[in-house]
Formats: sequence, C-alpha cells, structure tokens
Amino acid sequence: MEFRFHSPTEIRFGLGTLAELGHMAKRYGSTALLVSGPGREYGQTLESARDSLQRAGVEVIRYNQVVPNPTVDVVDRGARIAHKNRCQVVVAVGGGSAIDTGKGIAVAATHPGSVWDYMFFQDREPTEDTLPIVAVPTTSGTGSHTTLYAVITNTEHKVKSGIGNPNIFPRCAIVDPTLMISLPARLTACTGFDAFSHAFESYVNVSATPMTDILAMEAIRLIAKHLPAAIEDGEDIEARTNLAWADTLAGVCISNAGTTLPHAMGQPISGHFPQVSHGESLAAIYPAFLRYTCGAAPEKFIAVGEVLYADFRGGVR
Ligand SMILES: [Fe+2]
Repeated sequence: MEFRFHSPTEIRFGLGTLAELGHMAKRYGSTALLVSGPGREYGQTLESARDSLQRAGVEVIRYNQVVPNPTVDVVDRGARIAHKNRCQVVVAVGGGSAIDTGKGIAVAATHPGSVWDYMFFQDREPTEDTLPIVAVPTTSGTGSHTTLYAVITNTEHKVKSGIGNPNIFPRCAIVDPTLMISLPARLTACTGFDAFSHAFESYVNVSATPMTDILAMEAIRLIAKHLPAAIEDGEDIEARTNLAWADTLAGVCISNAGTTLPHAMGQPISGHFPQVSHGESLAAIYPAFLRYTCGAAPEKFIAVGEVLYADFRGGVR
C-alpha cells in the first residue's frame, strides 16, 4: 500500500462557529477583503461576518460582486480592490462561486497579469505570495472550502477552466450549518448532488486511496440519508449538519483523488450556458456516465449501490 494524502485546511465545524471568524482571520492580517454575492439570500450572515471581523480588530473591505460561475472580470476587479487596499487576507462567504472568486482574487491580487494567466493549462502558477484565504461556506455542495481548486469562466472565449494549486487551499474553513438553513430546496438539491458526485467520482477514481475511500463512502452514506430531508425541510438542522459534514469530506476527497468524466464534461456546458448550474450539468451527464463507467469498477459500483439501496446486491443477482 502506498499513497499520499494532503489536507492542510484547518476546519472549525459546528453550529454558531461563524462568531469565530474574526479571531481566525486576524491571524493572517488586519485588513480583510470580504468577498460575497450581492443578494439578499445571505440574510444576516454577512453582517454577522463583518461584526465578528471588526470585533477582532480586522478592517473590512467589502466586495459583493460575486456571480454564479465566477468570471475572469469579476475576479480581476476584486483583485484590484484587494491590491489597492493592501488587503492581507481574503474572507470568502457564500457558495462555491464566492469561495472560488475569493481564491482567484487571492492569486490575482499578488501576482502579475490576470487570474486567467494562472489556469492549470497556462505557463504560470500561483506562488506562496497568494493571499491567505478563510472560507465560510453557505451551501453544502462544492467542497471548495477544503480544496485546492477554483473554477473560473472566461466569457470572452466561452471557456470554463480552473486553478488547481496547493497555494489556494483555504488556510481555514468555518463550517457553520446554521448558515445553510435558508438555502432554497432547488439549490439544496443541486449543491447536494454536486457533493455526492465529488464523493462518487473520487471513490471510483483511478487515483483513489484507502483514505479517500473511507471518507468518500461516509460522504455518500450521509448524503443519501440526509439530502432528501434537507430538500423537504430546509430548517432540519440535523440534515443540514450532516450535509455540511459530507460536503467537507467530499472536498477533501477530490483534493486527493480528483474527479472524473462528469466534472470535465460539465465545464463546457456551463462555459457555453452559464445559466445551467454546476449541479444541473452533472445531473444531466450522470446516467450516461454511470452506464459507460460501471464495467470498469463493478465492485465499487455495487458498494455504492448497497449504500443507496439496502437490497441492491440482491437486486442485481
Ligand atoms: Fe463539483
């Protein structure tokens, strides 16, 4: 047995942990760029985040222009604001789009050129100059708070691509399930399926390890059990807590084992049609992907089937 496992993000998990944001961010600097979307969907979350930062003596510069499927323009604009205000830490609050925008800003604010120059296929890579990132997820889907990935869309070229680099691992993630209570049912379903796909694709991945297998199966089990309840009743805090934990585990899994076909195939869909959410693009691809891939890893497919359906093995005999 031989493998490597790397997951450097400090995780603070639990109800009410948002109050610790200021204390955590203060370690990295006294001026923070607070990255978020503009919408009312945040409720009191943004104000609570700002209050916590200010109580800890952190000056807050707001950047609330995050869009779904974050674009190069939005990231580069945020980077200029961070640079101009000499921000020392990026605090990203929101779903995957906000956290990925924060990661892109952390790179572009401290490196020459545009964030697009640092996509995985380019010559340049983010260095240790990348600003420290503190991630506060408000959805349970992308796992971005525990990954080394940021997905960015170039609207000019209609290309969705990404950065994959250890320097963009958030230094710290505050996972407070109370922040997810107001997430609407449809978004809960889309982001929940994204989390499932992270766990599943890392489990059947050729790069899977004994460590990621354990974490992925636990994430799959938790999502299968709790996602329907969270869709049915968004205020079911037990379901929200378990999904937040599953999403966190699944993010650790893809950082170490990677994703497979659906994530690669979903990117051109959202590149051409930004109105299609990441989770929706995955769901459209999954039935064909499962049929195509099943024969390559039958034992793993059966193991997942047994988690999803108690009588699965009996059913396929
Ligand atoms: Fe994903």
